This record gives sequence, C-alpha cells and structure tokens, in this order.
Amino acid sequence: MQSMTPAQSTAATAEMICQIKQLKKDRNAVILAHNYQIAEIQDLADYVGDSLGLSRQAAATTSEVIVFCGVHFMAETAAILCPDKRVLLPEPEAGCSLAASIDLDDLKAWKAEHPQATVVSYVNTSAAIKAESDYCCTSSNALKVVQSIAPDREILFLPDQFLGSWVKKMTGRQNMHIWMGECHVHAAVPPSSIDCKLREFPQAELLIHPECGCLTPYLDRITQDNGSCQLKVTSTEGMLKRAHDSAAIEFVVATETGILHRLQKENPGKVFHPIDRKMNCQYMKMITLEKLHRSLVEDVFPISVPEAVKEKARRSLEAMISIF
Ligand code: 13P
Ligand code: SF4
Repeated sequence: MQSMTPAQSTAATAEMICQIKQLKKDRNAVILAHNYQIAEIQDLADYVGDSLGLSRQAAATTSEVIVFCGVHFMAETAAILCPDKRVLLPEPEAGCSLAASIDLDDLKAWKAEHPQATVVSYVNTSAAIKAESDYCCTSSNALKVVQSIAPDREILFLPDQFLGSWVKKMTGRQNMHIWMGECHVHAAVPPSSIDCKLREFPQAELLIHPECGCLTPYLDRITQDNGSCQLKVTSTEGMLKRAHDSAAIEFVVATETGILHRLQKENPGKVFHPIDRKMNCQYMKMITLEKLHRSLVEDVFPISVPEAVKEKARRSLEAMISIF
C-alpha cells in the first residue's frame, strides 16, 4: 500500500476530526482531556485540565457519555463520581506507574500498623485504594486537604513520596507517614537539572510539579522564600494560571511535556523551556485521534467499578470535593 503524502495525511486528519465532532453530537458525549494529552486531542476536547478540574467537569456534565482522554485512574474517578453515565477510555492499557506503586494488600497492612491514622490518597490510585481511604486529594488541593485534618491525627499519605514530602514540609506536619511510591516520569529528573536550567535561563521562573524528584533538595528554599522565590510548585492547571498571571516572560517547566502545548497556545508572547524533553508519559500518549474515533464508534472501552467499591471510593472523593 502506498503511504500518504503530507497533504493527504492532513486531509485525513481533518476528516477524522470532523467525524469525531459529529459522533460526539450523535452520542451526546463530552470529551475530557488531561493537560498531558497530545495536541490534537487537547484541541478537540470540550475541557482540558488537571485531575481536580477533570473530576469536577465529570461530576457536573449533563452528557450521557464521557470519553476520558487520560489514564485509567482518571476515567475510574469519573465513573465513581457519575454512576449514571457511560465512561469510555479509548485505550484500556493507559495506566499509571504511580497508581501501580501501591496495592490493596499494601494499604491494609500499613493501616494495620497505624490503626488510628487518617488515610489521604492522591487521586493517582485505583478505585480499590480510594475505597480504603478517608480522603482523596490532587496536586491542586493536597495542602488544603491535609490542613483540614485535626493536627493531632496521624496521617498516612500515599502513594507519592515527593508530593508527600512537599506537603509535610509546607504544613510542618510531623505525624504524617509517607508511602515511598513515585511516578517514573517525574522521579527521573535529577535535582541537578534545576540549577542547570536556572544557569541557562537566569531570568526564567521555574514551574515544578510536586511529583518531581528534583524538588526535594529545594524544599527549604521554597519554604523560606514564602512564595516569592523563582521556583513555583503547583499542579498542571496551577502552571497554566501562574504562566498567565506572572510578569515573567520565560519559564522552565518541570512536568510532562504535553503541557507545553497549552502553555504556549494560551501565552503566545511567552517562552517555555521543558526541564527535560524526555519527560514523556507513554500512558498518556497512548490516546490517539484514531482511538478516540473508535471509542465513539464502537462504544469502547467502558470503565466500570464494582458497586461496593464505588460507594466507598465516592466518599473519599466527596470528602475532598466538600473541602472547597
Ligand atoms: P495534575 O492533577 O497536576 O494534572 O497531575 C496529574 C498527573 O498525573 C501528574 O503526573
Ligand atoms: Fe501517572 Fe506519571 Fe503518567 Fe502522571 S505522568 S499519569 S503520574 S505515570
């Protein structure tokens, strides 16, 4: 078979986008996409955002079908929050190394060691883990969730060690135990990258996701500077807001490179440098236009959560949502 010319390929993509838009109408579907998705998916989605924003959008939608362009735990969260909707994930293998870093037996054993503790789980966890948790949190609200818990209550925070260390440092909380999980994309960046990039771009502001392994040696600097420092630790949506509000025109971005598309699109006069071009989440990038199209045509892949798990998991998610 002959391969397509660039012009044919552009026309085929445009045709596919047209069909997806029509299918979306026909099926009364909404397309939600995470900030790490490929540019074409972001541009087509009804809403693009971080984990918290996507949960809120899912909970508020009136559409019958939610097509989740993200990873499995995100689609599962939508299925928990919207029991009467059909939630589709275009690629069932789109997992998350961080969510996989703790399983139910691990959590049950940990809880048994600390029977009085309040369990706070990052949203990057399975529904089964959420069901065994008191609170869920995202990178946008982890500080507020922990601050809302009585100071004398012991906390088990899971599964991300770097997010956990940042929350512990910022809240000054001593009675917080942290699971040693990590995301392979964010953990891989060494602390030396920060100094290296700041030397290369001395005027730039550094936007760092709290899952980043490079963050830990800088925690003292961030705390002491009380927010005025060149380093801003924030969720992916927080990065968008900061890039918009900041007087800086140059930024170094320490998170998955998919976010650069929106940062650049929404701030055409500003410059964004990835801290490391290799920050690529292969799970997020499994979703393609072809798979999104197939998802709407063939009604695949539905995400369901067992009733008993769903009920308990919803409580930890609602405990989080009720704080705001
Ligand atoms: P955000 O909620 O900040 O978008 O993070 C989700 C995630 O998976 C980060 O790797
Ligand atoms: Fe999970 Fe890391 Fe990918 Fe985020 S970037 S979805 S934490 S594997």
